[in-house]
Amino acid sequence: MNDIIDKKKLPTHIAITMDGNGRWAKEKGKNRIFGHNQGIKAVKDTIEGAIEYGVKFLTLFAFSTENWKRPKNEVDALMKLLISSIHNETKTLLKNNIKLKTIGNTMQLPKKCQNELSECIRLTKNNTGMTLILALSYSGKWEILNAVKMILENYSNENEISESIFEQYLSTKSVPDPELLIRTSGEKRISNFMLWQIAYSELYFTKKKWPDFRREDLKEAIIDYQKRERRFGKT
Ligand code: IPE
Ligand code: IPE
Ligand code: MG
Repeated sequence: MNDIIDKKKLPTHIAITMDGNGRWAKEKGKNRIFGHNQGIKAVKDTIEGAIEYGVKFLTLFAFSTENWKRPKNEVDALMKLLISSIHNETKTLLKNNIKLKTIGNTMQLPKKCQNELSECIRLTKNNTGMTLILALSYSGKWEILNAVKMILENYSNENEISESIFEQYLSTKSVPDPELLIRTSGEKRISNFMLWQIAYSELYFTKKKWPDFRREDLKEAIIDYQKRERRFGKT
């Protein structure tokens, strides 16, 4: 692919649903957990690519509310992988001036995982480069319902509640909506991801399964996005 990214039309925020680890492993005669482990290479290369291309916010959908319903051995393996990856990659985040943030009901994560995350968030909080947002135990419906509950506690007059007030109660407050949402593995669905924030996002689906995704694939998605005309309801 010889096309180049137009720096003036760069999406500020790209969100990715990293799907297909299990099927990728199955194709190779391995177990699903092997696929998750291999997915880490894709995560690292995609983050480096995002920095190289000048993306300001990158959100990775790593674990959904619904994913808790998977077999215990798979959930445990994913949590272990999360703990070790955060632990090992904190220095890389610091070196690359990346700020870590999470969205989702992280209180549901194992204590050890919560501790690694808070430590990494604390250490990277003053970084000024890209913001990396991990969606963990996240679902769009959970987030919206949570916002409604907090708003009910804080407002008695419905006329005071506007879209911008509502957004203050979402976990993405102070993060711009993603202009581009990518999903790997050929599935064309949202699966409860960022339901409010993707109202006007451009959607990009690739058949590539997550462990095979690399910065060149991110580049291809950005170039595809740049060819589109975004109308926002106007003519
Ligand atoms: C994505 O890959 C990783 C998570 C959802 C945690 P999957 O595990 O969903 O892989 P497939 O979709 O079953 O192939
Ligand atoms: C979406 O993938 C969640 C993540 C990638 C973390 P799933 O594999 O859980 O979604 P469905 O079940 O195919 O819709
Ligand atoms: Mg899947």
